[in-house]
Amino acid sequence: MTVTVRSFAKINLGLRIGAARADGFHELLTVYQTIALHDVIRVSVGRGRGIEIHCAEPRVPRDESNTCYRIVEKTMQALRAKGRVVIEIEKRLPVQGGLGGASANAVAALLGLERVLKKTLPAPERLRVAAEVGSDLPLFLVGGTVLGVGRGEQVYPQEDLPAIACVVVTPELGISTSKAFAEWDRRMKLTVPEASARMVELGRAVFAWLGEIYTGAPRHTVEPRRGRAGNPLLELVRTGIENDFERVVFPEYPELREGKSALERTGAKYASLSGSGSTLYGLFASRAAAQKAAARLRKEGWVAQATATLTRRQYWKRVFD
Ligand code: C5P
Repeated sequence: MTVTVRSFAKINLGLRIGAARADGFHELLTVYQTIALHDVIRVSVGRGRGIEIHCAEPRVPRDESNTCYRIVEKTMQALRAKGRVVIEIEKRLPVQGGLGGASANAVAALLGLERVLKKTLPAPERLRVAAEVGSDLPLFLVGGTVLGVGRGEQVYPQEDLPAIACVVVTPELGISTSKAFAEWDRRMKLTVPEASARMVELGRAVFAWLGEIYTGAPRHTVEPRRGRAGNPLLELVRTGIENDFERVVFPEYPELREGKSALERTGAKYASLSGSGSTLYGLFASRAAAQKAAARLRKEGWVAQATATLTRRQYWKRVFD
């Protein structure tokens, strides 16, 4: 049996880098949001042992450095399962693009493997295994709008906010996240209290936003309130949140700053780098506006796609066919 899983991407709505920790990671505060762009992962288990990774994209590793390999190895052990696991990755998302592609692939491999084996890990163990493989895997076990703290691996589901149209610009450029963090330390030279104060600032903005949108009503999806700012995600970005990685990535790759300006020029209500890049995204007032902007950006030579954010409900509905 082969199970097919959609491996959706994420964007970051604001990201603050805090102090470097003794374990080599940085404290982080971000709001993750899943979007409809995705890779496709196929999982099957046959006789024998070991893990095989297939992918037509040459930049994707096939060995144990692949996130899918690592999570499958851990999951097989935890489930005490036997067999040869074959993972096929149909790559559509950019590699090292800041959309969490490799992390989403690993979580999709885990979900597919569980389904093939008809066995599941207890939820806390799933989160633990995901966090061991990488900081931005656990968010894909939640989906929708997710607050990320710690090194980004501690995830808190937020209210399921209505989808919003967006445009994703993917420059042909891979950026190493660990190098971007190192560059942040080199450039900023923040003391621990300074770094903490900056985190607290974003924390306050996000908390104030939550206070505004939280209705307390037992609704599944927060309705956009007419007559006000509209979509709650736009209210969040209006608080002035930013992605710290722009400060280290834009000086090194000026074309990315241009990409952000191009998104703003074509009508984005908010534009930002996602993660450590190189992907840029813009949030738009309507699907039509996003499609028009994407067409215009393509004419200007950018690789641009119109898409939309995915609510938690949509995310889980579409993960499996
Ligand atoms: O967790 P992940 O494997 O995605 O992290 C890749 C690298 O990025 C880490 O080895 C670390 O150097 C850096 N990182 C960090 N702080 C974080 C997340 C990642 O310094 N919060």
